[in-house]
Amino acid sequence: MARRNIVKMGDALLRKKCKIVEKFDAKLHQLLDDMWDTLDYADGLGLAAPQVGILKRVCIVQYDDMKFELVNPRLVSSSGKCVDQEGCLSVSGFRGLVERPEVIDIEYFDRHGNKQTFHAEGYFARVFLHEMDHLDGILFADKMIRKLVDQD
Ligand code: CO
Repeated sequence: MARRNIVKMGDALLRKKCKIVEKFDAKLHQLLDDMWDTLDYADGLGLAAPQVGILKRVCIVQYDDMKFELVNPRLVSSSGKCVDQEGCLSVSGFRGLVERPEVIDIEYFDRHGNKQTFHAEGYFARVFLHEMDHLDGILFADKMIRKLVDQD
């Protein structure tokens, strides 16, 4: 495993639409392992492949001691609305208030190509939606209704 560099806002790589993963091979597993190394070091809740410069539909999420590896994730349904704070490992200096659905159902493939489903609510749902947005070149800063500048 190896840490990879995190791409920062302003880099065109973060604005691309990522490609569907077709091969669930050793290269994908290496990417996922490296992403976990990178996320553990950076101490975030999630990381998407374009944030390490790889334009594939892959992201990882860790929340409440649960770890998810999502390949080709898809939002199946969503309901409700809630506003909360978000930050991003690719965005330095500010966070923002973003409105997102409160309840979601997602579908994705694990690293072995097995289809999985998951139901999430509240901040948990928010983390998935934030990471999935990265796969379409969208950052929380595009959606924020209020910018919150870091105090320190
Ligand atoms: Co982010």
